[in-house]
Amino acid sequence: MKPESLMMSYGYKPELSEGAVKCPIFQTSTFVFKSAEEGKAFFEVAYGLRSQKEGEELGLIYSRINNPDLEILENRLTLWDEAEDCAVFESGMAAITTVLLEFLKPGDLLLISNPLYGGSDHFIKKVLPQFGITIAQFKVGQSKEDIIDLVQKTGKADRLSLIYIETPANPTNDLIDIGASKEIAKYFSKPDKEVYLTVDNTYMGPIWQHPLKHGADLVLYSATKYIGGHSDVIAGACLGSKPLMKRVKTLRTFLGNMASPHTGWLLLRSLETLKVRMDAQAFNAQKVAEFLNQHPSVEKVYYLGNLTAENNPVQYKIRKKQCLTNGGMISFDVKGGEKEAFKVLNALKLIKLAVSLGSTESLAEHPYTMTHADVDPTLKKEFSITEKMIRLSIGVEYYEDIIQDIKQALDTIKE
Ligand SMILES: Cc1ncc(COP(=O)(O)O)c(C=O)c1O
Repeated sequence: MKPESLMMSYGYKPELSEGAVKCPIFQTSTFVFKSAEEGKAFFEVAYGLRSQKEGEELGLIYSRINNPDLEILENRLTLWDEAEDCAVFESGMAAITTVLLEFLKPGDLLLISNPLYGGSDHFIKKVLPQFGITIAQFKVGQSKEDIIDLVQKTGKADRLSLIYIETPANPTNDLIDIGASKEIAKYFSKPDKEVYLTVDNTYMGPIWQHPLKHGADLVLYSATKYIGGHSDVIAGACLGSKPLMKRVKTLRTFLGNMASPHTGWLLLRSLETLKVRMDAQAFNAQKVAEFLNQHPSVEKVYYLGNLTAENNPVQYKIRKKQCLTNGGMISFDVKGGEKEAFKVLNALKLIKLAVSLGSTESLAEHPYTMTHADVDPTLKKEFSITEKMIRLSIGVEYYEDIIQDIKQALDTIKE
């Protein structure tokens, strides 16, 4: 069965919860053991003191380690990405920082793509160096050979441990080739030390791009976005193979940044409509992009559907290879600068002026001064994140109403 058919039932047994058709919120910090022997056995498995026996499952211990809402949610999330295991977190940043801390040690080299979401950018460039991590950076459009050369020039190629990419990049929709990034990881891997590839797949959600299928070792989500999808929860997720996820989950246990039972329950509810919501958002985004493409006050539109073999053969090829749709995110430059962009943002009525993305309601924001305020201004200029850019997250409203709202807001530029 397809994941969308399983989102209402997979992994939940009503007979264990008084027949409730929906998984209740297991609002409990701890779980009663049937016997001391059982408690001992659960801890042996949880702390890796011995391997699991044939058919033995990790018993419920304590909600920082496991909880039914989180376990069912994690099992359901694995279906979309066809991952072996998943860990959910109390925010996307919690998922991202836990992975970075687990797979990097002092003295290591981290290779990243640019641009990145502002929060990830801050943690990687401003916090990780305090722990002795060196950062090597590549940009959209650089070839595999250029990137290998760049890593070698750091003089620390033998300490490369992790490659971290975000594709499509927030807010420009620039694409990084996941398969080529894996080849770089393999190039620097040694028999005793594998270089892992991590992909922030937030912009495409679990429906529109499956990085694990293209060679990624770990996929990360701000589940606040499409997965949650209603602007009412902050959460994160990481998916990958069982051995890597065991490492991620162990660090999560000790950092204590797992999602709460209530967050887990909210996400279970959201997952039931993930496919229909995202289908509607991709459809609406296409219509909005078509409108923006021909509007006289719009200078440039950053939308995956605008890529063609003629105007950008490299990006178009990556789009065809790894993205299943054109997504639900559009950025555009207005003719003018901050003044004109702010005029448009302030005039929007249906579309809310707020950061975040992937929700049922359409949102608009100004990356230069908001989500990416903290990013180095030179980098921002280089990646076309300028004062004239507006980022739109397209929701599930009737598309003509979204377009009408943008139209009346763009009209205010001339007033
Ligand atoms: C691409 C991307 N990654 C990660 C994050 C961080 O997620 P959270 O806000 O859930 O911590 C965001 C948030 O905007 C994002 O856009």
